[in-house]
Amino acid sequence: MEKRVYNFSAGPSMLPLSALERAGAEITNYAGSGMSVMEMSHRSKVFQKIFDDTQAKFRRLMNVPEGYKILFLQGGASSQFSAVPLNLIGKTGKADYAVTGNFSNIAFKEAQKYGQISLAASSADANHTYIPAQDQLKLDPQASYFYYCANNTIYGTEWPYVPDTGDVPIVCDMSSDILSRQVDVSKYGIIFAGAQKNMAPAGLTVVIVREDLAGQELPYTPLMMNYKTMIDKDSMYNTPPCWCIYMLGLVLDWLDEQGGVPGMEKIKHAKAQMLYDTIDASRLFTCAARADSRSDMNVTFRSASEELDAKFVQESIAAGFTNLKGHRSVGGMRASIYNAMPVEGVEALCDFIRKFDKEN
Ligand SMILES: Cc1ncc(COP(=O)(O)O)c(C=O)c1O
Repeated sequence: MEKRVYNFSAGPSMLPLSALERAGAEITNYAGSGMSVMEMSHRSKVFQKIFDDTQAKFRRLMNVPEGYKILFLQGGASSQFSAVPLNLIGKTGKADYAVTGNFSNIAFKEAQKYGQISLAASSADANHTYIPAQDQLKLDPQASYFYYCANNTIYGTEWPYVPDTGDVPIVCDMSSDILSRQVDVSKYGIIFAGAQKNMAPAGLTVVIVREDLAGQELPYTPLMMNYKTMIDKDSMYNTPPCWCIYMLGLVLDWLDEQGGVPGMEKIKHAKAQMLYDTIDASRLFTCAARADSRSDMNVTFRSASEELDAKFVQESIAAGFTNLKGHRSVGGMRASIYNAMPVEGVEALCDFIRKFDKEN
């Protein structure tokens, strides 16, 4: 096998090597079925077992309590920007949104099509470099739900706390930090995440729904976005993203070997701390995010000059790293160090940063 690169992509991103290798070994003939998982009917017994096992593993690893359904859907996390208001806003016609980055801003705008949406907080005043504190949230007790995005993939910030919203259900986009830290699911109404960072290939969206919140959708809610339909049909109203669900199962097996979510939380925090320490100790680089709001998943940093940033990115490619260029709205660099990024990858990046810092 050619050497694999350390891929710091914000998503789709690295998957655990063991999961890829298992998929490779099983690709033409899954468990003696004589066919690939890609070729199987989603109604077959073989696939149903993959589906059930994956759902059960996810429930166990994420500690999803009774009263919550786990849905395996298509449409990406972005489809939930519409599904959430369509399903939930009917209760009072109002909802609160915290806008702390690009994706919560898109969700905030999308929701405005369906009801009266209030800006509970925004970090736009400082180019989304921080997470607002609890006492900065303007909360309406009449809101049908409160919405936030746990980890801001582009800006490199992550909510260090779960907002206290009283009786108002919390909806959270966990696309870029799901399964990287322990979550008390019972504090949430809905959790959703696109799979392509910590879970599986792109094409699967996992939605955890508190069951009592389903069934109150607006009358024009598209069938495919109706949580009730998908709960009643256990995500199989139509063809689910079969291959991605299978891959999620393999990734969850790997996660189990890392000590589950608590084990992963320690590993990922150590990786992030190592990288932040290296950046903080450098002469050239500073972090984009405020210290108390830094993300353990997406580390955003820059030098004082765009030319030097460009040189860093260019030399990093020659050194065996990819996708370290920052998002255009932030500039600089971004190292996405999701669960599957090995510790060695972060160590190698830290060495590279120290060397670059000395030489420039
Ligand atoms: C936090 C967050 N939410 C939503 C999205 C959009 O996800 P999708 O492309 O699956 O619609 C992304 C994509 O990077 C993301 O990082």
